[in-house]
Amino acid sequence: MKELVTSILSDAITTLKSDGILNNDITPTIQVTHVKDKAHGDLASNLAMMLAKSAKCKPRDLAESIVKALPQHHGITKIEIAGPGFINFFIDDNWLTNQINEAAENFSKLVEKTRRPQTVVVDYSSPNLAKEMHVGHLRSSIIGDAVVRTLEYLGHKVIRQNHVGDWGTQFGMLLAHMEQIVKQHPNDSFNLGDLEIFYREAKKQFDDSTKFADRSRQLVVKLQSGDDYCLKLWKTFRLTSLNHCNSVYAMLNVSLNSQDVRGESDYNNDLQNIIDDLEKKNLLTVSDGASCVFLDEFTNQEGNPLPLIVKKADGGFLYATTDLAAIRYRQQKLKANHLLYFVDQRQSLHFQQIFKVARLANFVDKTTQCEHMGFGTMNGDDGKPFKTRTGGTVKLVDLLNEAKTRAYTTVKQKNPDLTEDELRKIADVVGISAVKYADLSKNRTSDYTFSMDAMLSLQGNTAPYLLYAYTRIASILKNSNVETHELKFNSIHLKQEEEKQLAAKLIRFNEVVNRVADKGSPHLLCTYLFELSSLLSTFYEKCHILKAEDAATKMSRLKLVVLVAEVIKQSLSLLGIKTLDKM
Ligand code: ARG
Repeated sequence: MKELVTSILSDAITTLKSDGILNNDITPTIQVTHVKDKAHGDLASNLAMMLAKSAKCKPRDLAESIVKALPQHHGITKIEIAGPGFINFFIDDNWLTNQINEAAENFSKLVEKTRRPQTVVVDYSSPNLAKEMHVGHLRSSIIGDAVVRTLEYLGHKVIRQNHVGDWGTQFGMLLAHMEQIVKQHPNDSFNLGDLEIFYREAKKQFDDSTKFADRSRQLVVKLQSGDDYCLKLWKTFRLTSLNHCNSVYAMLNVSLNSQDVRGESDYNNDLQNIIDDLEKKNLLTVSDGASCVFLDEFTNQEGNPLPLIVKKADGGFLYATTDLAAIRYRQQKLKANHLLYFVDQRQSLHFQQIFKVARLANFVDKTTQCEHMGFGTMNGDDGKPFKTRTGGTVKLVDLLNEAKTRAYTTVKQKNPDLTEDELRKIADVVGISAVKYADLSKNRTSDYTFSMDAMLSLQGNTAPYLLYAYTRIASILKNSNVETHELKFNSIHLKQEEEKQLAAKLIRFNEVVNRVADKGSPHLLCTYLFELSSLLSTFYEKCHILKAEDAATKMSRLKLVVLVAEVIKQSLSLLGIKTLDKM
């Protein structure tokens, strides 16, 4: 409904512009908020106050002009001007009833597909290979995935890009370590087994011995120049590591698979072309032997210009060079209209520089939008990035397994009668959802403190709370002895305030889904879900369903909660979270 009010306000602005009351070059962000006290209406806007100054008139006078210019709408019964110039809107109950019945008849009416489908290339997860995925990879993988699912749901074409780090120093370390082992035991066949242990041994040597470190660097150069033996080993390391990632994605219900991998190594042959192209476009400066792009807007703390280095003095290419090749590929080959990068906030400068250089070099079209969807850090109780008790990085698999085990204990306590098989299935969903939801429900850009207790709680804005709200509806429906198809013959009547509030919330689903897509912020959907479930609880307290005063009311309320269940299920599915029929 906010959307409705926003859209008619925007019509009014257009009218006032052509009437000469408003200046043609203003493009205000229209703010519409919900009114607490229903006596003053349902929605309000401060638009007149915002624009009064530029329109050179009193806010209340401008409010009157806006109201006069507003087109008629069935959903709105009354419009009032209040206080210093607020415009208050009263929503028509009949209209709401119609909307909610239409949605109940046909769920797709609740969310409008986009009228302008875009090709959106989304870079997410993108771990550095060779070691196991750790908690630092969680946010990118699940936030990116939730936004990808939402964009697809709205009808956009999404191309996933898992820009794995598969070409750097870490592979030189593995190669050097392997070389040693083969030297020491030339006749043994080698089973890679646990890549993580292998990586840790290599890393230790790399840190302890300069000789080993030098050899590692030599081997990277050898690998990157196409040495057959190095390439062959590299392929094995890479595949083992990717298989591990895929099993984590499956565990996390993240919709990435092998086809979405386009890693750093894939751009290897394009890197020199990027340099040549930048050179041709007069964007390169050689500084201390390194090829750099200097941009006026980037300076260091001393105010000196900050270069984006694209080729080192020794001829090596960098992370930035690969990203320039990647952005050009996404534009030219994948034909993106919109590029999203779900990458740690700490890489913000890197992306600002990449986007700027890409524009100057025409690697992206003028109309293509590039956005770094940065995210904050997951911290431990001490406010520092989450670590194991001994200070090591926490493997993602370990964290997820612990969540499952903890969920198992809780579920078993609550439902001692479940079979072992059922228990496991439920605990797996609850455990994984709890971790995902706790993360997704936090504002993307803020840091947050990881708490296994809080995320597994049945109270508050948690996955277990929402999963429970869903199963409760399922069980009410079961106890009603009404089949869902029978609900078709009845309509929803909104009599009590709690029913209206619930219905009004439901029809805002569209607006929320669109905002998640626009802002790349799944937490908005989580907040919505929590508010919806809270309204559902109030509704249960005030409105009986199975013991309703008459059969029509019972059917109406059942139909309403079934719609709530559908919205919960669809929302959770956009967040990459599965629902349960019982828990
Ligand atoms: N592999 C990088 C890291 O772990 C993230 C890559 C993000 N994507 C990109 N196109 N740079 O920090």
